[in-house]
Amino acid sequence: MNPFELHIPTQLFFGKEKADAFFEHLPAYGSKALVVIGGGSIKKMGYLNQVEEHLEKNGIEPVLFEGIEANPHSKTINKAAEMGKKESVDFVLALGGGSVMDASKAIAGLIHDDLDDIWPYTVGGPKYREMKGALPVVCIPTTAATASEVTAHAVISNPEVKGKSPVSYPFMKPSASWLNPAFHTSLPKTTTRDGASDILSHVFENYLLGGNESDLADRYSEGVMETVLDTLPKLELDPEKEHLRGQLLWASTMALNGMQIAGRKAAPFTLHNLEHALSGQNPDLAHGRGLAILYPAYFRWLHKNDRAIDRMALLSKRLFGISGEDQTENALSFITHFEGWLKQNHLYERLSDQDIFPEEFGDVADYAIKIYGGGKDQLSAAGPLTRDNIIEIFEMTEQQKPEPEMA
Ligand code: NZQ
Ligand code: ZN
Repeated sequence: MNPFELHIPTQLFFGKEKADAFFEHLPAYGSKALVVIGGGSIKKMGYLNQVEEHLEKNGIEPVLFEGIEANPHSKTINKAAEMGKKESVDFVLALGGGSVMDASKAIAGLIHDDLDDIWPYTVGGPKYREMKGALPVVCIPTTAATASEVTAHAVISNPEVKGKSPVSYPFMKPSASWLNPAFHTSLPKTTTRDGASDILSHVFENYLLGGNESDLADRYSEGVMETVLDTLPKLELDPEKEHLRGQLLWASTMALNGMQIAGRKAAPFTLHNLEHALSGQNPDLAHGRGLAILYPAYFRWLHKNDRAIDRMALLSKRLFGISGEDQTENALSFITHFEGWLKQNHLYERLSDQDIFPEEFGDVADYAIKIYGGGKDQLSAAGPLTRDNIIEIFEMTEQQKPEPEMA
């Protein structure tokens, strides 16, 4: 086992039955909340009304900011912070997916430090690591995807410079989160699929590149993976089943809370580095979709270059029950079986299907290296990952012709 520190400060409430307990807990953070939502679905479904009623019942005045985009824009975040400062709110309540939760953490930081613009504070910016604190943030996640309801991260987009980059501070970890699967039954199929893909990435990244020194981290991560592999096809058939929504939501929260890597060695978040650069290039590309497109090509590239073979072979055995003599063959079996699952769940396609074309691949690779290369001219994935390697992976995705989906 490798040494580690783990701090999971978020008080979690799971289930619609926990509404009263969650809202009765909130006066601990103050009496005026900036309630942050996205582009409209939350209001349309009546979730906002329910939340505002609960807040008022508990003596908390809600101040609404609506209009956070998917892949949240720095300018919108700045506007929300301005409103929060003017209204002297005590804390920020995020009601939405990862984009709304991330935006809320950034807003809470801007208000606390009395700042106007979040972009210079993101990775690669001139003021990276200079934020001092944040107002308390509480979350009600309405997607099963990012685990932002427990993480220290906020990923910010800036379409003006085709940029997407995180801020990350321990003080941005949410104080409390209410996981209510009943708010998930309205999720469209595509958003559900993209979210499932993101959950998997959070356990794949370190599993593949972080070594084999924690048996429990392996078993824990496999548990998350199996839950997702099993639940998504069932949700395709029964999208309003709260029980299934709950399974995916809990898998999501558990996939990026630190437990999934504890005891392994630190490893780069390579798929995320590449995906954030892709969503920077096309701000309409959902994070989980970008990851799904990368998986087959990235895994095949690792395999071709004899990297992470033992780890992919172990996944082949643990997830798909395949354990032949030849580890290289076993690793390939993992890739083909997982690819089959992606196809079955309509997560198999090309970058050009998401309007990112080969002539842009070089620019995206350059951006990924600039932001995530740590000053070097390459990324890493169990060895160097050069600009040419990244372009090769992007080009490999173009072989992934999707099957048309039946209506
Ligand atoms: O804007 P509205 O109208 O609310 O629609 C949203 C949005 O268009 C819709 N939606 C959300 N909940 C819904 C719903 N529609 C119907 N019913 C509901 N219950 O879903 C769309 C996508 O929402 P979004 O929040 O963008 O998706 P997701 O949760 O996947 O978040 C993605 C963002 O999180 C970042 C990603 O990079 C991306 O910017 N990440 C954050 C992480 C973190 N904080 O730790 C880690 C992740 O790896 C990820 O990078
Ligand atoms: Zn992710």
